[in-house]
Amino acid sequence: MAIKKIRIFGDPVLREKASEVKKIDDKIVNLINDLTDTMRNAKGAGLAANQIGVLKRVAVIDIGEGLIKLINPKIIKKNGEIEEIEGCLSFYSLNSPINRAEKVTIITKNLEGEEVKIEAEGLLARAIQHEIDHLNGILIIDNALDEEKRKMVMELNKLKVQNGEEKF
Ligand code: NI
Repeated sequence: MAIKKIRIFGDPVLREKASEVKKIDDKIVNLINDLTDTMRNAKGAGLAANQIGVLKRVAVIDIGEGLIKLINPKIIKKNGEIEEIEGCLSFYSLNSPINRAEKVTIITKNLEGEEVKIEAEGLLARAIQHEIDHLNGILIIDNALDEEKRKMVMELNKLKVQNGEEKF
């Protein structure tokens, strides 16, 4: 069990683009285990490698229907549009209404290195888009309306002070 520190908005690693996984070795398996432990400990629904300071295209999701591991995930199809409230562990779970595609189809890899296709809708589709954004250095605040952005920054600074983190 390895619970890692979750990087908070303002940490530059959250703005980096993660690189493709070339080989699925023990390091990647350990990374997936760390992400899973850290996500579960924080009671989150998803966590991307950037959020624990690792720039690999790996993320985990669990919306209460079992663990989904994403390795080099790519969206190949998007349908519809829907706005829902969405949070992120890198924002202390602060949330904002965010527009997303209603349905997505992705190609990802499993631990054997085989390509797997996942068709998702609802919360799972949202979580997948959220985690892939993380791997590209994109955060919910980028997709929030201006007024929501201001609210998030204010709240976040309060929480940062409470948690002994530096304001930004
Ligand atoms: Ni997030």
